[in-house]
Amino acid sequence: MKYRVTLIEGDGIGPEVTGATCRILHAAGAPIEWEQAPGGAAAVAQYGVPMPDDTMASVKRNRLGLKGPLETPKGKGFRSANVTLRQELELYVGYRPVRSLPGIHTPYKDVDLLVLRENTEDLYAGIEHELKPGMVMSLKVSTRQAGERISRWAFEHMRNHGHRKIHCCHKASVVPMADGAFLDAFHAIGAEYPFIEKDDLPVDNLAFALAQDPGPFDVLLLQNLYGDILSDLAAGLVGGLGVAPGANIGDRIAVFEAVHGTAPDIAGQDKANPLSVLLSALLMLEYVGEVKLVERIERAVFDVLEEGRHVTGDLGGSASCSRFTDAIIDKL
Ligand code: NAI
Repeated sequence: MKYRVTLIEGDGIGPEVTGATCRILHAAGAPIEWEQAPGGAAAVAQYGVPMPDDTMASVKRNRLGLKGPLETPKGKGFRSANVTLRQELELYVGYRPVRSLPGIHTPYKDVDLLVLRENTEDLYAGIEHELKPGMVMSLKVSTRQAGERISRWAFEHMRNHGHRKIHCCHKASVVPMADGAFLDAFHAIGAEYPFIEKDDLPVDNLAFALAQDPGPFDVLLLQNLYGDILSDLAAGLVGGLGVAPGANIGDRIAVFEAVHGTAPDIAGQDKANPLSVLLSALLMLEYVGEVKLVERIERAVFDVLEEGRHVTGDLGGSASCSRFTDAIIDKL
């Protein structure tokens, strides 16, 4: 049996890093059949929109997707393709594990965090208007239902995966209604999980505490904008955007994606680090239960990282994306 997966290559370095990932999965014998679908700037050129209906239909049909980074043309009236995907498919969990990797030297050892981001509301609701010339208003949306939905997902996931402690991070002192509602939902659902340690703290305190020592944290739950920012900060603790995987998960559909952007400065030069997409693909295999296969590919990746001879520039090496990919395939 093969998993049919929608593949959105993406823009900029997208085709390079998704191509590398597909080669590695193929070499490992992953039971995947790809269904290519357009998205981002490439889709705008061909279909006039960054997220064509056929692409959405493909993801809905397969219920699994792997996505490279997408460029949203700025100031041209297009809604971000990423936001469209998350909102329309109700992929309400932004899932970002942040782990130290062998051979990547950072100020902190043994970082092991899970950042969970509410993916559908907040300022990303896209409700903005001009009150009068020179004055605009952007609305932060926060519903009890969305707060409870992601809180329940977080606690269920923790129960099933051995996580012990969760912090809900907010700015309720400044945005008491929107952030207060999220916090209330978190504590209400949390009361049903007495065996999980829970706390809350202001998001600015979290930023400070993470920069000082990420050690005491396990799972972090944040609204959309705070989660966007803090998950990138957390990626910086373990070696940067090139090595941090991510996923957008709903009740029926999950789309796995690189957390970095299209990296226009290095696009088309065979310099990109493919690990963010590759590790996202491993999250996908883990999601469907292919744990042994994940362990085997991870071992090959870790060996190449530990040896350090064939890693890309962002990791201090000088290997091309293709050479890095070949080295992982050789290990497999
Ligand atoms: P970026 O993540 O593309 O680049 C930031 C820096 O990190 C650059 O120096 C880049 O070379 C480097 N970098 C990123 N990924 C790398 C990789 N895999 N290997 C080695 N180096 C890597 O962020 P930026 O420049 O802010 O955004 C560029 C475009 O990407 C924009 O159009 C933005 O909208 C889009 N974007 C898309 C995202 C998505 O589809 N999920 C997420 C973030 C940005």
